[in-house]
Amino acid sequence: MKKTIVITGGAGFIGSHVVRLFVNKYPDYQIVNLDALTYAGNLENLVDIQDKPNYVFEKVDIVNQKEVDSLFEKYKVSGVIHLAAESHVDRSITNPNEFINTNVIGTANLLNATVKHWKDNFDDKLFYHISTDEVYGSLDDGGFFVETTSYDPRSPYSASKASSDHLVRAYHNTYKLPVVISNCSNNYGPNQFPEKLIPLAFNNIKNKKPIPIYGKGENIRDWLFVIDHARAIDTIFHNCKIGDTYNIGGNNEWQNIDLIKLLCKIMDEKLNRAEGESEKLITYVTDRAGHDLRYAIDSSKLQNELGWKPSVTFEQGLGKTVDWYLENEQWLSNIVSGAYAGYYESQYNNR
Ligand code: NAD
Ligand code: TYD
Repeated sequence: MKKTIVITGGAGFIGSHVVRLFVNKYPDYQIVNLDALTYAGNLENLVDIQDKPNYVFEKVDIVNQKEVDSLFEKYKVSGVIHLAAESHVDRSITNPNEFINTNVIGTANLLNATVKHWKDNFDDKLFYHISTDEVYGSLDDGGFFVETTSYDPRSPYSASKASSDHLVRAYHNTYKLPVVISNCSNNYGPNQFPEKLIPLAFNNIKNKKPIPIYGKGENIRDWLFVIDHARAIDTIFHNCKIGDTYNIGGNNEWQNIDLIKLLCKIMDEKLNRAEGESEKLITYVTDRAGHDLRYAIDSSKLQNELGWKPSVTFEQGLGKTVDWYLENEQWLSNIVSGAYAGYYESQYNNR
């Protein structure tokens, strides 16, 4: 094998797409999927590649420094792509410490392990930290986040991600650890856990349950198809300038309410329902505490310097996503019937 790359959080939504891309595209890389298998980690996401000779799974909790160190002793690691995190804003509001432990302490533990094992020779090594546009805060109507926008995180989730970004830059400055960071907008696509807006709405539309829209549904997000995020990660991993930051986005802003209406329309067509039937399920509920109004990413640096661009339009990506969820009913029902049912009740009852 040419190199061994550890992908953390590889059993999660985005991580599983990154693992699949790397395992299939680079047969001479050994891909180590490091994941603690929390509620969001699901090895079912990877059944199609689990028997490939260049893939291995390791159940490791990044909050445990000893476990992380043991993994670095077991493998001769030359690259880390770090996606493992607590990732849902609503959960960060009810349980912030979980986010601080995983996202801040967990990232520090990985950084410590890489410095310890790489410090005699940083050549051909890379610690690639996957972050979010939410670290930049909330925009009013105009403007876009660029790589130099000041950090202004406003939820426990985004504050914990911002802290981890700061640590990554500090280890680069202090220990000369070769790092790169990318900050991406909202992802959607196959395998997303149904606590996030699009798969949650899909599941409710399919089961004719109310679709909860926070506040007035006016909040704006920029949406990117998950496979395009995985492609961007591949491009950055292989071509980045060490120490740099790259914004990744879809140039695809939608108000939540308009997005949900589009999803309803697509699902009415695919489920042979009367036009407008699913829209009747839209229900406005109490707003999220501290709900950021708008995120919008300027990804021109990545496009101009490294030549990446999204490969699908939103309509194409959303259509593919709906098809995947319709074809993988068992995947969704395994999640919805398990521990997630309790979360849904506590999150949405009396809202
Ligand atoms: P996810 O919640 O679907 O998956 C997270 C994965 O991390 C899971 O497999 C989980 O088991 C694992 N994990 C959690 N705690 C762990 C621990 N202590 N040790 C080891 N593994 C652990 O998340 P996602 O949506 O795939 O996001 C992946 C990364 O991308 C995160 O860092 C997130 O901040 C970032 N990101 C996400 C989005 C988005 O829209 N989802 C956008 C931009 C950036
Ligand atoms: P989400 O998928 O949680 O991503 P993020 O908060 O990281 O952007 O939410 C996307 C948007 O949808 C956000 O503005 C909150 C809103 N939302 C709802 O209106 N209803 C819901 O049930 C959920 C989960 C989110």
